[in-house]
Amino acid sequence: MIQGITGRSARAFPSQPLEPPSDSSTPQPSEIMVSLKQVTKIYTNGCQALVDVNLQIRKGEFLFITGPSGSGKSTLLKLLYGEEQVNQGAIAVNGNLISNLRGNQLSMLRRQIGIVFQDYKLIPRRTVAENVAFVLWAQGFTRKEVHRRLQPALKMVGLQHKADCFPDQLSGGEQQRVSIARAVVNTPPLLLADEPTGNLDPDNSWQVIKILRKLNAMGITVVVTTHDEQLVRQSNHPVVQVHNGRLYRVQG
Ligand SMILES: Nc1ncnc2c1ncn2[C@@H]1O[C@H](COP(=O)(O)OP(=O)(O)OP(=O)(O)O)[C@@H](O)[C@H]1O
Ligand SMILES: [Mg+2]
Repeated sequence: MIQGITGRSARAFPSQPLEPPSDSSTPQPSEIMVSLKQVTKIYTNGCQALVDVNLQIRKGEFLFITGPSGSGKSTLLKLLYGEEQVNQGAIAVNGNLISNLRGNQLSMLRRQIGIVFQDYKLIPRRTVAENVAFVLWAQGFTRKEVHRRLQPALKMVGLQHKADCFPDQLSGGEQQRVSIARAVVNTPPLLLADEPTGNLDPDNSWQVIKILRKLNAMGITVVVTTHDEQLVRQSNHPVVQVHNGRLYRVQG
């Protein structure tokens, strides 16, 4: 359950901004993967991207974040993996208060977060296998461990047979699947996907969502931003909507 979200409602446009959870519905801290409390983000040019946002995501949830362009979806994810900092409020990920983390500690937290971007961000001169293994090498995994993890990750996204291809030899859908394999090869407990289907046709989009659901079924908490209303409707997961920097419940 996402705290503060109850019942189903029209997806047209929202009612109440999400409030902090009441005491009676507060889950144990150990059950919470992500917590935002009264978070406001104002960029240095004065742009108010998020205003007083409250959200709790339990471990094991699959949450969609929707909203118009410029509403603050990517900003919310960037705050979660520490690429941007809040101006007010507090964010905790897997029990770690992000604003308290610096340098090495932030790097350690990031290892607990897999990230998938709309534009894949693969290294062009590396093969599929190397792109995925790169994360493990960077984190000091042994050769044996890299070998042990690589094939299952590629299998999970159906791309074992493309292990030796370069990114420009793959379709968009395949490149996105490589980026998912890369995001989860070190088995992070949290996966953030920012518009992972934004460049894909409906078939490939659905394939990506199916993989994300499979990862969720394995216990990974998944947070996905998307513009794709149909995809959200079909998949029947909880949804929050960002509008002008505020967060609203849509479906949950
Ligand atoms: N680095 C930045 N500096 C200043 N303003 C920014 C910065 N990044 C984003 N913004 C502004 O913050 C607001 C929210 O941007 P954000 O990228 O979070 O929106 P979004 O919902 O992800 O949009 P889209 O659907 O187009 O990806 C926008 O008004 C945007 O112009
Ligand atoms: Mg965005």
